[in-house]
Amino acid sequence: MTETAIQVKDLRKSFKDTDVLKGVDLEVEKGSIFALLGSNGAGKTTIVNILSTLLKSDGGSASVCGYDVSVQPEKVRENISLTGQFAAVDGILTGRENLILIAKMRGIKNPTLTADNMLMRFGLSDAANKRVGAYSGGMVRRLDIAMSLIGNPSVIFLDEPTTGLDPQRQA
Ligand SMILES: Nc1ncnc2c1ncn2[C@@H]1O[C@H](COP(=O)(O)OP(=O)(O)OP(=O)(O)O)[C@@H](O)[C@H]1O
Ligand SMILES: [Mg+2]
Repeated sequence: MTETAIQVKDLRKSFKDTDVLKGVDLEVEKGSIFALLGSNGAGKTTIVNILSTLLKSDGGSASVCGYDVSVQPEKVRENISLTGQFAAVDGILTGRENLILIAKMRGIKNPTLTADNMLMRFGLSDAANKRVGAYSGGMVRRLDIAMSLIGNPSVIFLDEPTTGLDPQRQA
């Protein structure tokens, strides 16, 4: 039997007079990759923000890993990670320090080893000790995605993750 990772029913959200989400229904099975497609301004980031508990909906229901996003947002946050449309990395820290910071916040036993493995997987070992403020756009994006994968979250939200990555990296 398949299990449900994300369930959205009749989800609604308006910004002042603009109705952005007008009753969205979707279901995502555990172990699957689900792509939400739509034109600019269609409401993709709005849905991701609601599902990752950054934004409250106006109506309908949404649950992630069985937890209602408006009733148990802290439980939802324990089970997910989010790479937003715009990178959320600290430019003053190095790449390794950014990864170690997330690993510590996630309660990983060996943060440094986890960070170094991620740096290797994402081709950032040579830049590990460089300040992220001096990274190229694609390097920042790779670090941002690497930070999202730390701690094996049950659900990973990626909002336009390939923006700024070259085709070799997307393979
Ligand atoms: N905080 C906000 N205040 C007012 N309007 C907003 C806000 N956030 C989003 N919107 C509006 O909601 C609509 C949907 O925006 P959203 O960012 O969800 O689109 P998107 O599908 O992610 O677009 P893109 O492909 O450009 O990233 C747009 O009309 C946008 O102007
Ligand atoms: Mg968007």
